[in-house]
Amino acid sequence: MNNPSHFSSLCIYASGKGSNAQAIINYFSGNNKIKVALIVTNNPKAGVIDIAKKEQIPYIVINREDFTNNRYLQRLKEHGIDWIILAGFLWKIPAGLIKEYPGRIINIHPALLPSYGGKGMYGMHVHEAVINNGEPKSGITIHYVNEKYDDGKIIFQKEVVITPDDTPDSLAEKIHHLEHENFARVIEGEVMG
Ligand code: GRF
Repeated sequence: MNNPSHFSSLCIYASGKGSNAQAIINYFSGNNKIKVALIVTNNPKAGVIDIAKKEQIPYIVINREDFTNNRYLQRLKEHGIDWIILAGFLWKIPAGLIKEYPGRIINIHPALLPSYGGKGMYGMHVHEAVINNGEPKSGITIHYVNEKYDDGKIIFQKEVVITPDDTPDSLAEKIHHLEHENFARVIEGEVMG
């Protein structure tokens, strides 16, 4: 992690569009200590694949069985991966991967945990629940990953005010903005220790 003689290599896991992945790639481009070395996705149609191609970053499309049984970990090793960054990745991380990367897996959640977390609370489901409950604020949580959904140690949170005219879509947009502004910076802080 703090070995000055080598890069810290990040692997980004993403299931969707990949706007956070893109923001992270942009942030670390030209950085001589940290690089995005690999992208993992469970979704062959994920926008993050186009990003990987455009940025010339190797990627793996993983199926459920190989993922659950950690059958692709050799690929992470081959790319010298030190840290795993979950940026909108929808599958639950198996214990074996957590064992392989203890304290080295970071997730971003689009709400203020411990509220609006747990199974089924992802993407628009989160923003719909927050708006339906008339919450005055939401935000983002960046946290370490353990065996339970959205439960590991919190590294960083930032709030956003919800106005009466906000909809799940407008809230999602505000949250994305916060994510793009903060995620890579927070990762850098953790990786550099
Ligand atoms: C983000 O809001 C992230 O917090 C989440 O899923 C969304 C992914 O968006 N859990 P993108 O694919 O990075 O655009």
